[in-house]
Amino acid sequence: MYISCFRAPMPQIFIANPKGGCGKTTLATQLAGYFADKKANVLLLDHDAQRSSHDWLQNRPAACSPIALEIFGDSNSQPDADQLLIHDMPAACGIDDFMSQINPGDYLIIPVLPSPTDIKACLRFVMALYRFGFLQKELSIGLVANRVKLRTVYFKTLESFLQRLQLPLIATLRDSQNYIRVMDAGLTIFDLPPSRSKTDRDQWQALLDWLEADTLIERYPIRDRSKQHLLQSA
Ligand SMILES: Nc1ncnc2c1ncn2[C@@H]1O[C@H](COP(=O)(O)OP(=O)(O)OP(=O)(O)O)[C@@H](O)[C@H]1O
Ligand SMILES: [Mg+2]
Repeated sequence: MYISCFRAPMPQIFIANPKGGCGKTTLATQLAGYFADKKANVLLLDHDAQRSSHDWLQNRPAACSPIALEIFGDSNSQPDADQLLIHDMPAACGIDDFMSQINPGDYLIIPVLPSPTDIKACLRFVMALYRFGFLQKELSIGLVANRVKLRTVYFKTLESFLQRLQLPLIATLRDSQNYIRVMDAGLTIFDLPPSRSKTDRDQWQALLDWLEADTLIERYPIRDRSKQHLLQSA
């Protein structure tokens, strides 16, 4: 899908951080599943040659709410105006990779792991965002601390690093096998029994509040049930 000249009328959600393995696909797929459960017409854009979002969707049980997926760059089609676009960006993506795709009003979520290497890489990415004027673009940009073990020295290092940035820490997600299980099964933590996923759901609430998820959903027409089979086969 080519959308470089496309001015999306509705907010898009980008999940990006050039550092590999920080949780981009995890956040993108979980958000896609969450919004699909709320009857939004979701288009998950997999920008990564590893196709991890694609693999997740392939494993998704047929009974789950449908999600459309495009491998970015694979077709010339344009997204429907009523599709909520969620972009799973690749590792090593540069600012140029989404400079032309991101519009005022869009969301940029940056997952970061509590490790010195990841913090340094994140800092370089954030500095590039500053340099390229992303902070003046009327975007909502927020960081998500991922795979956190709360009482560790590295989480404290991450916290003090984040406090020095002019960007909000919008959620802190624990390191949990739940994410590994749901990634393998094409599911989300919202599909798990509440008894097993309460902590994760509570942690996600902060991210959903920041996205103003309820308001965002209201801005999109409810998914057309007659088109569901088409979405599922995407
Ligand atoms: N909160 C978490 N708890 C436990 N495991 C997690 C968590 N978040 C992500 N993971 C696992 O960490 C690995 C990397 O996550 P993910 O694939 O989402 O990162 P990524 O940023 O998309 O990686 P890449 O840069 O290679 O695309 C995966 O195996 C995923 O299941
Ligand atoms: Mg990925």
